[in-house]
Amino acid sequence: MSDRPNHDPGVARSVAVIMDGNGRWAAARGVPVAEGHREGARALRRTVEAAIDLGIQSLAVYAFSTENWARPPDEVDSIMELMDETIDRELPDLAKQGVRTRFFGRRDRVPAALRQKMEGLEAETAANERLSLWIAFDYGSRAELVDAARRLLADGVRPQDVSEQAMSERLYAPELPDPDLVIRTSGEQRISNFLLWQSAYAELVFDETLWPDFGADQLRSALDEYAQRARRFGARGQ
Ligand code: FPP
Repeated sequence: MSDRPNHDPGVARSVAVIMDGNGRWAAARGVPVAEGHREGARALRRTVEAAIDLGIQSLAVYAFSTENWARPPDEVDSIMELMDETIDRELPDLAKQGVRTRFFGRRDRVPAALRQKMEGLEAETAANERLSLWIAFDYGSRAELVDAARRLLADGVRPQDVSEQAMSERLYAPELPDPDLVIRTSGEQRISNFLLWQSAYAELVFDETLWPDFGADQLRSALDEYAQRARRFGARGQ
C-alpha cells in the first residue's frame, strides 16, 4: 500500500523490526547460538503484545533472510525448528489476542512440514483484526524486486504500463503497509536487504539492545523517537 502513507503525525501505525543480536547475546553468556534464537522468539512474543498495547496495527519482523541459509547447518536447523515450535506454542496465544499472522518471502525452500504449518496459521488467523504480524522468512528485498520484475514480464505488462503501483502489486506481500518506522536492534546501523521498496520513506531508529533483551520499554522508546521526527515525504516542511 505504498500509495497510502500514514499522515497521522507522530503516531507509527506500521512498524518493522530487524531483530539483531541473538548470536552476541548467546556468546556473552557462553551458551549455544540456538539459545539466543530461542530467547529471541520470547522477545518477539513480548514485542507483539507491547505493540498491541501501543496501538500498532502492522508489525513486520525479519526472522530469516535469504542470506541466513549460509549459516552453519546446525544453526539453520535450529531456526527452522524454532519457527515450528513458535507456531505451535506462541502464535496461537497471540491469535487469541486478535493477531493475524502472515509470512512473506520465498516458500519453495522452507521444509514442507513447516510450510504447511505456516499456511495453517495464516488461514486460522485470517479474520483477526487487532494487529497484523508479518514474518519475513526466507526473505530478501532484492530477490523480491527481481521476482516482481519477472511477474511483470510474465503478466505481459507493457513498458509504458510499468508503474510503482504495478510493482507494489507484485511484491511478496502487496497488502503489507509501508513501514512508518524501521527499528534495528543491537547497535548495527544497516538495512541488510529488508523492505528496500517499502521503507522508502520510513524513519529509522537504531537501538543498542540485543534482540533477546528487547521488549515494551524499548519499543515505546523507539515510538517516542519517531514522534519527534517530522515526516515530509519529500515535500517542503511548513
Ligand atoms: C539475528 O541475530 C536474528 C536472526 C538471524 C533471526 C532469528 C530471529 C529470531 C530467533 C526471532 C524469532 C524468530 C523465529 C524463527 C521464531 P544474529 O544471530 O544475527 O545475531 P548476531 O548478529 O549477534 O550474531
